Amino acid sequence: MADMEFISIGNVIIKKTAALAPMAGVADAAFRTVAKRFGAAYVVGEMASCKGLVYSDRKTAELLTISDPERPAAIQLFGSEPEFAAAAVEIAERFRPDIIDLNAGCPVPKVAGNGAGSALMKDPKLFADMVTALVKAAHVPVTVKIRAGWDPEHINACEIAHIAEECGAAAIAVHGRTKTQMYTGKADRSVIAAVKQTVSVPVIGNGDVDSVESCEEMYRETGCDLVMIGRGAYGDPWLFRDIDDYYEGRPRKPAPTLDERLSVMREQIELLVKYKGEYIGMKEARAQAAFYLKGMTNAAKYRGMCGKLNELNDLYELTELIKAENKNCNGGNDNVRV
Ligand SMILES: Cc1cc2nc3c(=O)[nH]c(=O)nc-3n(C[C@H](O)[C@H](O)[C@H](O)COP(=O)(O)O)c2cc1C
Repeated sequence: MADMEFISIGNVIIKKTAALAPMAGVADAAFRTVAKRFGAAYVVGEMASCKGLVYSDRKTAELLTISDPERPAAIQLFGSEPEFAAAAVEIAERFRPDIIDLNAGCPVPKVAGNGAGSALMKDPKLFADMVTALVKAAHVPVTVKIRAGWDPEHINACEIAHIAEECGAAAIAVHGRTKTQMYTGKADRSVIAAVKQTVSVPVIGNGDVDSVESCEEMYRETGCDLVMIGRGAYGDPWLFRDIDDYYEGRPRKPAPTLDERLSVMREQIELLVKYKGEYIGMKEARAQAAFYLKGMTNAAKYRGMCGKLNELNDLYELTELIKAENKNCNGGNDNVRV
């Protein structure tokens, strides 16, 4: 077991446990707040377009709101036009992020097809210009999030990380997959280890961490300074609690009971509705609620019901139904880790 440690990204101190990865459509303010309450060391917001911000797209600005309990928290920007970066930073900084992160890993066609996200890794000059423009404009540390490379023939994470550091980036997060892998196969930890050997700023290891054990492996095998978790945290903020307990030297707590899972699900969705209103909040709650129900008895039926959630009352009815139907199941305690 490691001793409790902290890392610094610029002037931002972060506990060396596990961070919540940026996930568009998933790691919204509500989930980030819950993840933080359970022990996430640091959270990164959903990517926002530099150009979208500059053209004052109201929806883009909504993505940037950070609630104080989330801190330290980053706003993530994507784009491929350095001339929009400075103005985007100025707008983003109105939301008082602790860090600004550049997305250089997103593989989706809407982003990479426009030269942004992972496509920046194919164009080191443009990547350098983007990082430089952000660093010049920002009053907070700028970090970058990259992949291993574009495809297996172009693994250039070390070269890109080196450029980022030269241009003033304060930390580099590496998802150990290529762009063409999307989310298939396994994240390659050796690339993260190689980046750690290349740069002197903190390196954040990301990809396939979904347990205390895999978090510890990521630290051990890569020497990274911080671990970042995406999909492994879906509907499972207890993962951050367990990782925090592990590094604090506290004994492992039992997996959450059914009642605890339902109650945290409600907490998250009530927050979502508070931030986004009932109409949009409940639409987005459908997927979030389903994450919490994974692995429980009759999960498929309940997930089907999640797809029909329209108002908070529907959620309350669903939780009552689940409790009623499972009250004899393990004394109401469903101690299965999802
Ligand atoms: C639904 C979803 C949305 C994502 N959105 C973003 C994003 O906005 N910005 C980003 O840098 N990465 C994004 N990612 C990538 C994750 O941050 C992370 O790098 C990837 O999921 C690998 O980590 P994991 O195996 O722990 O999930 C997203 C991933 C998923 C599954």
